Amino acid sequence: MSNVIIACDFSSQARTEEFLDLFTELPQRPYVKVGMELFYGAGPQIVRAIKDRGHRIFLDLKLHDIPQTVANAMRVLSGLDVDMTNLHCGGGRPMMEAAIEGLTRPDGTRPLLIGVTQLTSTSEQVMHEDLLIEGTMADVVAHYAANAAAAGLDGVVCSPHESPVVHEALGEQFLTVTPGVRFPGAAADDQRRITSPAQARELGSNYIVMGRPITAAADPVAAYLQASKEFSND
Ligand code: C5P
Repeated sequence: MSNVIIACDFSSQARTEEFLDLFTELPQRPYVKVGMELFYGAGPQIVRAIKDRGHRIFLDLKLHDIPQTVANAMRVLSGLDVDMTNLHCGGGRPMMEAAIEGLTRPDGTRPLLIGVTQLTSTSEQVMHEDLLIEGTMADVVAHYAANAAAAGLDGVVCSPHESPVVHEALGEQFLTVTPGVRFPGAAADDQRRITSPAQARELGSNYIVMGRPITAAADPVAAYLQASKEFSND
């Protein structure tokens, strides 16, 4: 099963279904990321519609609020039957622990919970000068990841460049979900810390998230298959 997650950054259900129709011939439906644009534009029923088409879903809403609010929101999201969801590690340990509690269903199951360390659009310079966070990007990501692990999260969102430091500190079981992936020679867009799918695999990423390189490709299915092949090294 491919661990390439396609970021479906569209604003409507119709556009999303039109895009997903391209993939119905494949033996396995791609893992799909539903982000803020689509969730806010189409509403929660978009999750059910995509799930009914046989896709795994990463619901990327990056929650960041006081612990009680995050716990209550996660309780609502736990009913949506997504496979993975996330929050900002910057919300702190009590918020992350509250999120786990809210996300856990009465039967004890829950979606994977992943923490955003630093956005892959954030450069080290912006982190130092605008956010006033000192240290190297790798050290900051490792510190946020350690907090996430201590709170009971399953992994972090980070750049593929930071997968090695996260796995070294927290073990291979602790997942790295990595956006900022581009085919060799392609435009970086607004991403700052990019790698190719093959580099992400070599660096130990467990999942890669790719949006525009697939959604804006002339042939999205071919782009997805190429990314899956490079990432899985089949
Ligand atoms: O189009 P592109 O491949 O840059 O899309 C990357 C996706 O991953 C976007 O949906 C973006 O919101 C998401 N993401 C990210 N960096 C993070 C967390 C999520 O780019 N740290």
